[in-house]
Amino acid sequence: MYILAKVAVVLLISLLVMVQGGLPGPQVIATQGAVWPRPQQQNISSENYFVLRPKKFTFAKLNGTETCGLLESAFTRYYEVLQQDAKMTRKKLKKIALGDGFLGYLDELKINLTGKCIDAEYPTLDMDESYKLWVTNERVELQAVTLWGILRGLETFSQLVHLDNQESFLRINSSTIKDFPRYKHRGLLIDSSRHFLTLEKILRTLDAMVYNKMNALHWHIVDDQSFPFVSVKFPELSQKGAYHPYTKVYSPEDVKYIIKYARVRGIRVLPEFDTPGHTASWGQSHPELLTPCEIFATYGPMDPSKDTTFTFLQEFFTEIRGVFKDNFIHLGGDEVDFSCWQQSDNITSFMKTHSIATYEALESYYIQKVMDLVEKLQYNSIVWQEVFSNGAKLPENTLVHVWKRVDWKDTLKNVTASGKQALFSACWYLDTLNSGGDWEDFYYCDPSEFDGTAQEEELILGGEACMWGEVVNDYNLISRVWPRASAVAEKLWSPYSDSYDLDEPRKRLEEHTCRMNRRGVEAEPPNGPGFCN
Ligand SMILES: *[C@@H]1O[C@H](CO)[C@@H](O)[C@H](O)[C@H]1NC(C)=O
Ligand SMILES: *[C@@H]1O[C@H](CO)[C@@H](O)[C@H](O)[C@H]1NC(C)=O
Ligand SMILES: *[C@@H]1O[C@H](CO)[C@@H](O)[C@H](O)[C@H]1NC(C)=O
Ligand SMILES: *[C@@H]1O[C@H](CO)[C@@H](O)[C@H](O)[C@H]1NC(C)=O
Ligand SMILES: *[C@@H]1O[C@H](CO)[C@@H](O)[C@H](O)[C@H]1NC(C)=O
Ligand SMILES: *[C@@H]1O[C@H](CO)[C@@H](O)[C@H](O)[C@H]1NC(C)=O
Repeated sequence: MYILAKVAVVLLISLLVMVQGGLPGPQVIATQGAVWPRPQQQNISSENYFVLRPKKFTFAKLNGTETCGLLESAFTRYYEVLQQDAKMTRKKLKKIALGDGFLGYLDELKINLTGKCIDAEYPTLDMDESYKLWVTNERVELQAVTLWGILRGLETFSQLVHLDNQESFLRINSSTIKDFPRYKHRGLLIDSSRHFLTLEKILRTLDAMVYNKMNALHWHIVDDQSFPFVSVKFPELSQKGAYHPYTKVYSPEDVKYIIKYARVRGIRVLPEFDTPGHTASWGQSHPELLTPCEIFATYGPMDPSKDTTFTFLQEFFTEIRGVFKDNFIHLGGDEVDFSCWQQSDNITSFMKTHSIATYEALESYYIQKVMDLVEKLQYNSIVWQEVFSNGAKLPENTLVHVWKRVDWKDTLKNVTASGKQALFSACWYLDTLNSGGDWEDFYYCDPSEFDGTAQEEELILGGEACMWGEVVNDYNLISRVWPRASAVAEKLWSPYSDSYDLDEPRKRLEEHTCRMNRRGVEAEPPNGPGFCN
């Protein structure tokens, strides 16, 4: 009898799965008050809860907690988020019958910042983002050593708040959370060269990054197609190299604004000035930097045989150092086309006199000089993997960015076995599109899954989701990135999981996407048919 019943249940489930396309209702039922990315440790009750009264709500600094503008502006932002959430409720609070697990009204969150609060501070690779959060009968408190930890904890707190089943109040389940990121560098690459992206969309992107606890904007700011960055020292670069000299450029004020907007949210801004390839737009105003291609009367990569190339870059990066204050800069170094170098007599004789035997070695010669000059400017370099593969000698703190999908496990092994630190993007190219729900492809990929020792795994500092801009502009940037990059954000923050059962994250992402929508991020539906409150 028991066996028969079991068989019947299995048959019924298979039948349901087969006809799923035609069932009424949403494909995936969203969670309520679940956090994305999943915290390292969380105990949450589904019986005991508080009712948050948004109008009365305050953040209360505990004795000993310093304050500063960054902290106060975070309180303002999250207060606004709660007011926004409150618009979902439909009944007056007085009219609801509160159930057994009601622990009381939650009108304040105590803030215990044990370290300093400094407005001038910039987030860094090594910042401490850990925090502890209690929402219990005994205490309602957020504790962190740094301001950055408080920011991450406020985001988590705001995500615990959800609409109750009667849609009449904001509920927050009793919880205890101890949280910290799995990787330090959790980035998103945007590309403002293939298509210009407006300030507004870049700021929305930063908002969404905060909601996913991402902490590094990799700004692939210029490339072959256009040079929208306005240099004060060399204004001709954007005058001639941008798609439009006035409307499709980032003025010094724009750049400053983006960096500040990111900084107060705990996000680093890392520009990429990719050389020696991907530089056609530089040649619009400075053709002398590039190698003439005799056959096609065009220009190839930068010309490493001329000292003037490096003099120019020295001046250029000195200006950049004053603008982008992070300790890292991305120098590119990918996909260098050697054909122009091969055609150039000057390059050939230069290689002879310098005993450079291959074009890979010539590229290494070039990039090493650039790495040396930015090192003198107190920048650490990030370079695409080719720079490593071509055998360049990399300075101490260089990060090797692994992006090629082919043999990525071997590449990570080779990079870390040589003692170099790595960033990972190989299976997180958002321009790879699959049909609905393809965030799962990104979710199944984990950088630690290569044949490395524990010590080698430690050298992976994180990774980035990459949104290349060939077919992405202002109109589809946000919906193409989110919530697909949320999958990457969770892989980089949350504890390792090798589960192939994505039922749990699927439901949580359903809620998280609605949450982003509510906060003004036009994320696309992650899981098929459904709806948001
Ligand atoms: C919070 O409590 C409600 C009511 O029991 C429950 O439906 C929901 O799943 C809980 N949320 C989380 C994230 O556990
Ligand atoms: C904070 O410190 C002040 C003065 O030292 C004291 O009067 C007050 O009771 C303290 N508050 C709390 C909550 O400990
Ligand atoms: C804040 O947290 C620290 C570290 O746990 C603790 O020592 C201190 O007493 C707390 N401050 C208050 C006012 O509770
Ligand atoms: C969750 O509960 C378990 C068991 O009581 C406890 O060991 C653990 O420390 C708790 N975790 C947090 C973050 O409170
Ligand atoms: C090759 O080098 C010579 C001598 O430095 C220079 O005058 C000439 O312009 C260079 N040719 C090209 C194509 O850059
Ligand atoms: C890794 O290094 C080995 C030994 O140098 C080399 O044969 C192999 O091609 C490298 N793999 C990759 C993917 O670079």
